[in-house]
Amino acid sequence: MIRFPKDFLWGSATSSHQVEGDNRANDWWEWEQKGHGKQPSGEACRHYQLYEKDFDLAQQLHHNCHRLSIEWSRIQPDPDSFSESAIAHYQQVINALRARGMEPIVTLHHFTNPRWLARIGGWENKRTVDYFCRYVEKMALIFSPRVRYWVTINEPLIYAYFSYFAGDWPPQKKSFLALWRVRNRMIAAHIKAYRAIHRIYKQAGLPRPMVGVAHHLMAFVACEKTFRNRLAVSVRNSVINLGLLKVLAARSLDFIGINYYSRNLIDTENWSLHSILSAVCRRQHDILPKNEMGWEIYPRGLYDMLLSLKRYRLPVFILENGVCVSDDRLRWDFIREHLKSVACAIEQGVDVRGYMYWSLLDNFEWDKGFVPRFGLIGIDYQTFERTVRDSARRFAQVCKTGILD
Ligand code: BGC
Repeated sequence: MIRFPKDFLWGSATSSHQVEGDNRANDWWEWEQKGHGKQPSGEACRHYQLYEKDFDLAQQLHHNCHRLSIEWSRIQPDPDSFSESAIAHYQQVINALRARGMEPIVTLHHFTNPRWLARIGGWENKRTVDYFCRYVEKMALIFSPRVRYWVTINEPLIYAYFSYFAGDWPPQKKSFLALWRVRNRMIAAHIKAYRAIHRIYKQAGLPRPMVGVAHHLMAFVACEKTFRNRLAVSVRNSVINLGLLKVLAARSLDFIGINYYSRNLIDTENWSLHSILSAVCRRQHDILPKNEMGWEIYPRGLYDMLLSLKRYRLPVFILENGVCVSDDRLRWDFIREHLKSVACAIEQGVDVRGYMYWSLLDNFEWDKGFVPRFGLIGIDYQTFERTVRDSARRFAQVCKTGILD
């Protein structure tokens, strides 16, 4: 039997574009309308209308927190004004969570941008940092009395990689220079936003907020333990996993938020930088079970990643951890095994304070459309009916008791 700390935050996460539906004013919507990606997001889960119903279910599942994102393009459909109706909507959303005893954890940027921002070059444009901060300040001024936890940007490196280097997501650039520029802009935006949020709470005489990023961590494991493979593991850990945290941890993080899903088995082919940074093993050996997007399931990696964060001496929240499978039994296995890793890391002195499963609902999985099913709650995309899965009920027992049998 494993007992988690008393004030642990238990819940799940969503992001606006993936669940709300009808997010017409952002760059992803525009991209989808041009036929890109597997399917357009359309009405998604109709969560914009049905959020109270969804939060009722989360409450019944004993979640005591919920991570959501505010859709910037709804708040600022154009650069010079803020939409009163969108602000009122998110006020109701936050109130709905509070009324159900759930701590809101609010993300300010989760992959989507207002269209007007995309038109001026998005995150490649220097001015985006200031635009982002104006939006963040407005949100902090409005929501500070009701929100304590803020996530400025979701997965800056993943966003920069897929949108500006791999060419998979809008604006589909394929340039290392653009990736690097966007990474640096996002770091600058985070630091500025971090300071602005703190200033606003201080001026209002409110208790210190907790501000962080959601950082994606991937477990890297050498296939054969050759010198070159080990070197590749260590380079990737230092550049991809810890690089961003090294820059931010000292002065602009109140907690480390991590999103953990999988591992890469590394088999370098030669001494090229490309091979050291991105070659993965293609041989059919040491094969672990995979989710339906082909990602290996590797709970041990979560433990290793958590231990690697110990040096920063900051509280850690798992802001995303989840699996897309059609056999729901595998979902519970996934959650249980990852929770064991969390418990072991806590035992080793890592200050983990919360676990959010990705995701509360099946949802729009970006360029992969609606096929992958990550939800604790299933969605029928014809009727928008919600079905609570068995894995959700099992997880609910842990959320309720803080105990994993
Ligand atoms: C993203 C989510 C996404 C999930 C599964 C994370 O990297 O933050 O938006 O749905 O991975 O792919």
